[in-house]
Amino acid sequence: MSDGEKGGRGGFQTDLGFVLAAAGSAVGLGNIWKFPYITGEYGGGAFVLIYLACIALVGLPLLYAEMIIGRRGGKDVLDSMSALTAHSGLPGRLATWGVGLLAVGSGFFILSFYAVVAGWAVHFVAISLGLASSDASGSEATFTALAGNGGLSAWWHTVFMGLVILVVAGGVQSGIERACKILMPALMAILLALLAYVGVTGGLGSSLAFLFEPDFSKVSGEAVLEALGHAFFTLSLGMGAMVTYGSYLQSDRHVVRDQLAVAFLDTTIALVAGLVIFAVVFSMGAEPGAGPGLVFITLPDLFAQIPGGAFVSLAFFVLLVVAAWSSGISLLEVVVALGVDRFGWSRKTAAIGIGLLVWALGLPSAFSGEFLDFMDNLTTRYMLPTGGLLIALAAGWLLTTEDREAGFAALPGGGAALAATWTFTIRFVTPVLVLLVILHGLGVF
Ligand code: PHE
Repeated sequence: MSDGEKGGRGGFQTDLGFVLAAAGSAVGLGNIWKFPYITGEYGGGAFVLIYLACIALVGLPLLYAEMIIGRRGGKDVLDSMSALTAHSGLPGRLATWGVGLLAVGSGFFILSFYAVVAGWAVHFVAISLGLASSDASGSEATFTALAGNGGLSAWWHTVFMGLVILVVAGGVQSGIERACKILMPALMAILLALLAYVGVTGGLGSSLAFLFEPDFSKVSGEAVLEALGHAFFTLSLGMGAMVTYGSYLQSDRHVVRDQLAVAFLDTTIALVAGLVIFAVVFSMGAEPGAGPGLVFITLPDLFAQIPGGAFVSLAFFVLLVVAAWSSGISLLEVVVALGVDRFGWSRKTAAIGIGLLVWALGLPSAFSGEFLDFMDNLTTRYMLPTGGLLIALAAGWLLTTEDREAGFAALPGGGAALAATWTFTIRFVTPVLVLLVILHGLGVF
């Protein structure tokens, strides 16, 4: 049996394959659509600094926690949690079932609306190729005609779900790993080409200043909490995506290095996407704080005015679709892995059956913007942070020291100092910060 087929449940054949798949999960609409617009709304540099601090204090510790739980548990998120915490009795059972239910719920809910937004990006690819027409009266009208048209949104949602199901049904190694090995380098190449483009056409200077010159007068409590919530979403944390991918790893050896690579790629790609988008925005004298419509309304407006705009537009929206695709794959995989590991379903049946349910659940979001926002808020503000809190508590307090520190033990020199730092953070710092996000989401302060 090849390494890639460990235990008959499949696995990543190479460590690089794992890093690209996990980075593929992390890098998505969160980086290219959401990060730029919230940074624009919260005024730039200072928000970026806070966001980076959140990645360090919450994102990194949880990313390691999820990967090591998957790696040591060796199964889907529910069974991995159960395998590592059962010895602790009731707390272990509560954490296991809490995380398991939240993971399945988040997998269904997030993918259902994510596929609708990703579908819009597919529509813009079609427009850039001349296969669909844009509204003569401008980008705002084009976007409204799409987002306000349930049938059209549902059609692109269906196309996107088809792409996701296709890869997940193909398996971990020949579906997910193979797709991400192509998608991630393609994404980076397109992004670098766009960066080179704005480097030549201008706007990069103002964009750099906007992102990296902090103006602390713009910092509010609200900005801190937004940054913390986004750290979850962008790193795919709190719903077992990284647990599931971690379970397909072959050894403990590279977990620490791999999670650093994933967080680094995710952060760098968000920053570069922001640089590119704001360079275009500033060079055309537009406003950075346009909100969620930034990439679907402001950018197409600007693309229409710049030389070679149709081609740049095509590159940009292909980038968005590719990023969303590899994230959508991981969202479906969390639930499919559970069907395969726990219930013994075949991968194909699980991928198609669960994919169809997610597709049906996405229809209300395709027909109603309010429903889409509701799903987004429910998952990002409440479900992911709650799942993350349970995972942090389980990793910090319930796992055996051996399981908990396995990734560090594999480091040269034993990694004792790093392990101690991580353990302290995941026990005390991460849970408190996450609790703050949840309480804020509930409107407690
Ligand atoms: N991280 C993805 C993004 O930034 C979204 C995601 C969240 C994917 C949770 C999987 C799990 O777009």
